[in-house]
Amino acid sequence: MTPSDVKATLSFSDGSPPMDLPIYKGSVGPDVIDIRKLYAQTGKFTYDPGFLSTASCNSTITYIDGDKGELLYRGYPIEQLATNCDFLETCHLLLYGELPNAAQKADFDHRVTHHTMVNEQMQFFLRGFRRDAHPMAVMTGLVGAMSAFYHDSTDINNPEHREIAAIRLIAKMPTLVAMAYKYSIGQPFIYPRNDLGYTANFMHMMFATPCEKYEPNEVLVRAMERIFILHADHEQNASTSTVRLCGSSGTNPFAAIAAGVACLWGPAHGGANEAALTMLEEIQRNGGVEKIGEFIKQVKDKNSGVKLMGFGHRVYKNYDPRAKLMRETCHEVLTALGLHDDPLFKLAMALEKIALEDDYFVSRKLYPNVDFYSGIVQRAIGIPVSLFTAIFALARTVGWIAQLNEMIGDPEYKIGRPRQLFVGATARDVLAINKR
Ligand code: SDX
Repeated sequence: MTPSDVKATLSFSDGSPPMDLPIYKGSVGPDVIDIRKLYAQTGKFTYDPGFLSTASCNSTITYIDGDKGELLYRGYPIEQLATNCDFLETCHLLLYGELPNAAQKADFDHRVTHHTMVNEQMQFFLRGFRRDAHPMAVMTGLVGAMSAFYHDSTDINNPEHREIAAIRLIAKMPTLVAMAYKYSIGQPFIYPRNDLGYTANFMHMMFATPCEKYEPNEVLVRAMERIFILHADHEQNASTSTVRLCGSSGTNPFAAIAAGVACLWGPAHGGANEAALTMLEEIQRNGGVEKIGEFIKQVKDKNSGVKLMGFGHRVYKNYDPRAKLMRETCHEVLTALGLHDDPLFKLAMALEKIALEDDYFVSRKLYPNVDFYSGIVQRAIGIPVSLFTAIFALARTVGWIAQLNEMIGDPEYKIGRPRQLFVGATARDVLAINKR
């Protein structure tokens, strides 16, 4: 952080003494006003529910320019990473700050590959769920349960523990998601295969059976890989902020990541991909493209409570660059599968076109986000709708753990403890029950 020559001066109309606040510049993006001494000097808090104007930390990992629709992982544009790298290269970049060279890539891939198995006891934990349990309920449980198996690496303040926990989480999430899926369809769990790449191995654990050889389809593997890369990290979004706040108490990394999984589940966040596909299927059932106008009318009616899921974003006030890449992937996968006439894809593109020409959306700068097209791609790959957010959690685990490790690695970090504006009852006495 670079102190700016410019200071902010806070003055009060009641003659209270003014206060100078330092301003810091980042390498790019908005400057910040440092208010850490505000309460001590003025006895006042700032007030920013939803954190619309609040930077919770400084970070070197991911930069988003919402107006330009730009997303950089450690300075590299998402478009270049999605085209030129695989997911484990992206994981190495997010965790260590640099893309790996060939030797580093081979070593990293080998380490991750040799941590993909989970303790056999995990399947008995899984068997405690109903078969029809939502996969995100299962994943919240499974990830938290991992802290019961790795007492050798739960001291978050130990750099070696932080690193092996990161490798274990990245390596085991595909195994856990595939186990949750197999359990839900009553099929046997498929063990990881060390001769397959990360994403091909995931597809194998998801779709192979003991009865016949399963060869992952290269086009689908590449599409899944792109979905992982596009979802890997995204600055201080709700689930990442949850992981940081949870981890700031010093709890173990598995518990902190489980908190992120729980937060991601919400339909305003990672649950939007499942909600967006359900929305498209419902429009399709009710008449398809011809009924888009009626649906848009409902969305614009505040009392309907209907939102255009997969649209809008707190930061992007332009097209989410990931949505563009996801739409491309959609087209590639559907064409490769001979589904280029897929009615839902056509419906999604028609809906996007109509929304982007409608002033309601244009004036509110509502554009498609990463969740708008990702469901169509996953459905074409054969992923059930209920598993979409679990796939998002699988991909986002590397971002969560990179952000958590960055926070804990900062010697200045403190436990997060926001304050409040209290508007409730002031002190009063308890009356005996016959007097209430
Ligand atoms: C993700 O933060 C991240 O980076 C998240 C994420 C990541 O990678 O981690 O990018 C992943 O969560 C993407 C977002 C997925 N969510 C959805 O697609 C759900 C639908 N979107 C909305 O719920 C909403 O757009 C949010 C939650 C994403 C953003 O909400 P904000 O920033 O709080 O904006 P807002 O709700 O104040 O909306 C501003 C206006 C409001 O209208 P007015 O009160 O001004 O009249 O836009 C309207 C909202 O009603 N609006 C929508 C809308 N989103 C906002 N109207 C219809 N459909 C929508 N989708």
